[in-house]
Amino acid sequence: MEKISNPTQDKIKKAANALKDGHLVAFPTETVYGLGADATNEKAVSRIYSVKGRPTDHPLIVHISSINQLEKWAIEIPEYAIKLAEEFWPGPMTLILKKSELAKNFITGGQNNVGIRVPAHPIALDLLSEFEKLGGLGIAAPSANRFGAVSPTSSTDVEEELGEYLQGSDQIMDGGQSKIGIESTIISCISEFPLILRRGAVTEEHISNKIDLYINSNNDLHNVKAPGSHSSHYSPKARVILNGPVKPGEGLIAMANFETPKDVIRLASPKTSEEFARELYSSLRLGDRHELRTIVVIIQETDGLLTAIYERLMKAAGILKI
Ligand code: TXA
Ligand code: MG
Repeated sequence: MEKISNPTQDKIKKAANALKDGHLVAFPTETVYGLGADATNEKAVSRIYSVKGRPTDHPLIVHISSINQLEKWAIEIPEYAIKLAEEFWPGPMTLILKKSELAKNFITGGQNNVGIRVPAHPIALDLLSEFEKLGGLGIAAPSANRFGAVSPTSSTDVEEELGEYLQGSDQIMDGGQSKIGIESTIISCISEFPLILRRGAVTEEHISNKIDLYINSNNDLHNVKAPGSHSSHYSPKARVILNGPVKPGEGLIAMANFETPKDVIRLASPKTSEEFARELYSSLRLGDRHELRTIVVIIQETDGLLTAIYERLMKAAGILKI
């Protein structure tokens, strides 16, 4: 595996070529790092699954360079989905749409729908456009972590997670610390109204501020598999406790105004919800590096982003299993 620490245009071109040749390239996005492969190359995509240790019925998000590529991958796109794409792409939002012929079962996990996203990170966007210049149509990329583990928010995290599973011609591109720090909002757009399947930095509030939409909370209409349907999703090795009392020797993640009790290991003190999201995964990893057995997270759901964080922590704590 080659680590690209300063991705110049030349190096980005080389990475695009590696993808075209069927190798894997981990790359930065504004949410978390992704593990990319040519989304039309079955063999390359199957390596994503083995490197991650992920079951093959879990679909992958296809990343494209702009809304112009959308109709290659999706059909019968509802008007509201176009509005969402125009408003929030490039950005931390994935749309689930009825798939085109191009989106094969090895991408969709056998479902009739495909997840599409235009990421808002200059390196990711450059990589996508260089890849398209070579005739590429999209880059399939899940978060670049082992299945069930915490998503990586730096290239060092990716190397720690996947380094031993990657091969000689695979690459890890560095693009600094992920700005948002939690995965994209996933919105199912296969029914008359949209449905949020995974909360993220594009919140219900953002959507309804911009676009006159009814956000459906009933999954029945959509009949899609909810993401992260696994009890140990987003989990560090340490046990995660939500809003519980914190004891000496345990790790603590809480807003800055929460005081650290004696002999507790403070892992993060964010001042805002944005900082909370940005620091969450790296501080969980820090807890693991300290070999802590328990990490207590104190969090109130006072806005949409904190709700998105809360949802992930519920899964990390094994409370929410959907
Ligand atoms: O921010 C993100 O979304 C990152 C960056 C790299 O783009 N990607 C990411 O991918 O988080 P992943 O695979 O770790 O999580 C995507 C989730 C999975 O749980 C998957 O089951 C769900 O999205 N998903 C993907 N395609 C889907 C589909 N067609 N229908 C329902 N769920 C889908
Ligand atoms: Mg993931």
